Amino acid sequence: MNLTIIGTGYVGLVTGTCFAEVGHRVICVDNDATKVEKLRAGGIPIYEPGLEELVKKNVAEGRLSFTTSIAEGVEKSDVVFIAVPTPPQPDGSVDLSFIEKVAREIAGAITSYKIVVDKSTVPVRTGDKVAETIKRYCKAKVEFDVVSNPEFLREGFAVADLMKPDRVVIGVHSQRPVAAMRDVYTPFNAPIIVTDINSAELIKHASNSFLALKISYINAVANICEATGANVQEVAAGMGMDERIGRRFLNAGIGFGGSCFPKDLSAFIKISEQVGCDFGILKEVQKVNDAQMNRFVKKITDTLWVLKDKTIGVLGLAFKQNTDDVRMSPAIELCQRLQREGAKLRVHDPKGMDKAKAILTNVEYVENMNDVAAGCDALVIATEWDEFKKLDLERTRKELTHPILFDGRNLFDPAEMERLGFIYKSVGR
Ligand code: UGA
Repeated sequence: MNLTIIGTGYVGLVTGTCFAEVGHRVICVDNDATKVEKLRAGGIPIYEPGLEELVKKNVAEGRLSFTTSIAEGVEKSDVVFIAVPTPPQPDGSVDLSFIEKVAREIAGAITSYKIVVDKSTVPVRTGDKVAETIKRYCKAKVEFDVVSNPEFLREGFAVADLMKPDRVVIGVHSQRPVAAMRDVYTPFNAPIIVTDINSAELIKHASNSFLALKISYINAVANICEATGANVQEVAAGMGMDERIGRRFLNAGIGFGGSCFPKDLSAFIKISEQVGCDFGILKEVQKVNDAQMNRFVKKITDTLWVLKDKTIGVLGLAFKQNTDDVRMSPAIELCQRLQREGAKLRVHDPKGMDKAKAILTNVEYVENMNDVAAGCDALVIATEWDEFKKLDLERTRKELTHPILFDGRNLFDPAEMERLGFIYKSVGR
């Protein structure tokens, strides 16, 4: 099929590339000409495992191209996906101005029947607004359908999530676009659920909020484990063996971050308020998440007492492993909290250092994770990178002025760390 994706952020670029990989002809549109130039030249603006190879391959095989022109994309495609940012506003609601602008531009470019699909994460009823806008601004007498098709990919695992989705959600007002949408997704061999548009939009916010709730739940359990001498990982393992619960997203730590969970949680709380339903449980999820960071900082200050003039090594800056994304990263927040207490920082992240440099200043960026501990009063693990598990612990213990390690992601075994001579403090164990 001929498809266009408007917006080449994480969602747009990965989606467009995977659509091309399964055989569709895909045009990716972005209004940032520099970005489009870079993509055309084979450069990738984000780090996402497996993406660069797929982009290069599909560009070379002629199924994937890039342009700044929405009109070109609309004209050459049957289905037009909107994948532009929906950033948060100060009151927690969603800024839909990019969606609205794109809807107007699509309206101006339509000359024959098109399916316009919203892939960005949006509040329930946005599909209606998009349809209204296209109708209002479209000069030509043509038909179109608006579809909601939320995305469930995780950064760092985006290609795998897209190629093998748990489910595909297609929200429609009429049956007309369903067959084409099925054709788009048939190559992915995933279960497809067809709903009304409002339900599809809600599935996305309800899913992300539920996953955030799961994390806050296990973090709250971790605090009880600390108070009682239990081990949260054993509790999570035991809970997770119940298929109704599942082990995933039950990793206690310093809390969730990133550009999705915090934003979507606030948005869902706001949307619920606007329709007259107080979603109190989600406010509690936010509270637990904030408190989790406070508890971890307190753990550090309780142990090291005064942080002023102490040097602390921090492993991890990205908001999670496998990504260079540092937006709303708990690791960055932790660094800034430690800096406010007067600590000097030596930091490392396998992929996130370049992007961190713009928001985290007055720290020493260290290229090799095994060099971070040198001369530090303590070491902190802030992101769950698998490669931190391969840290040279013997060397780290010797190079720290005191062998104190705060593990905000529970990467090591407490008994083993004690045996190696560390004062080791993790979360919920
Ligand atoms: C999340 C959802 O998982 C995706 O399904 C969704 O499509 C995406 O948001 C989106 O809306 O675009 P993402 O933000 O990329 O994906 O990352 P996650 O893997 O969900 O992690 C989010 C945060 O939760 C990270 O800070 C991570 O460290 C933390 N986390 C995750 C935990 O603290 N414990 C866990 O057990 C799992």
